[in-house]
Amino acid sequence: MIIIDKEKCTGCGACVRDCLNKTLILKDGKAEWIRECFRCMHCIAACPAGAVSVDDPEYDMEEVFPIEEASCFIPAEKILNLIRSRRTIRHFQKRGIEKEKLDLLLDAGRFSPTGSNAQNVSYIVIQKEREAFNSVAMRAFRTYNDPKRFAEVYPPPYARDRMDFEDDEFLFKGADTIILTICPRDDNAAIASANMELAANGMGLGMLYVGIFVRLVNRDPSLRQYLGLSEGDHVATALGFGYPDVRYYRTVPRKPARVRWM
Ligand SMILES: Cc1cc2nc3c(=O)[nH]c(=O)nc-3n(C[C@H](O)[C@H](O)[C@H](O)COP(=O)(O)O)c2cc1C
Repeated sequence: MIIIDKEKCTGCGACVRDCLNKTLILKDGKAEWIRECFRCMHCIAACPAGAVSVDDPEYDMEEVFPIEEASCFIPAEKILNLIRSRRTIRHFQKRGIEKEKLDLLLDAGRFSPTGSNAQNVSYIVIQKEREAFNSVAMRAFRTYNDPKRFAEVYPPPYARDRMDFEDDEFLFKGADTIILTICPRDDNAAIASANMELAANGMGLGMLYVGIFVRLVNRDPSLRQYLGLSEGDHVATALGFGYPDVRYYRTVPRKPARVRWM
């Protein structure tokens, strides 16, 4: 439940105003939580007095920190430069990603927004079993290496009739750690993935989206079994992370945005 510390509450109404589902009211000059909600926690964030908390074993109030104490503001130009200078990495060093960095990446996903605050993105992190995983993935991929079936997993116009895969790193290009996001909604997983990529760049890591693998894993029973996926589990994104073994010296041009101003 959402708890209001009546001693600390000044009755300013900031939480009531920002409550999407009107589950907070002001009563006798103090905020009161009157019914269950989807726990977006805006009330915790909006309270200047720190009077609001959540009592739920799934949430840890120790994680909450005052925004002014952290350097949360990054000028837009810097954010845009980060977005413009990130590149898909397809050459990785043979260097393992430290556990603390992986935890930080997962936090970048975890703290990303989800529709109705569903927090319904889960993750499979493949690091120790990377070689075995790549070999199972490539075995599955090779079964589509036939002119009739190739477009199922490798869509035109880039697909060739058939490809020669010299090694098991074809899909993930030697990435040290593969993270699969599992989510019924692609949008939630895509937002988490994009934030993870930016966080990776901020730690000297690089990332590769592997769309081919997503198409493969969502249709190949052997691969799904290997990963322990249940029938309803939808793999939304497949991400390869590692220390880049390539350096980019400049940004690239993009087509103008197709925009209709109304
Ligand atoms: C959803 C998605 C799926 C992708 N799938 C693959 C893939 O399977 N293999 C690959 O080498 N690159 C893949 N890419 C990388 C794109 O080819 C790359 O983003 C694009 O060429 C632009 O290059 P940049 O990311 O360096 O700006 C994918 C990118 C996205 C966003």
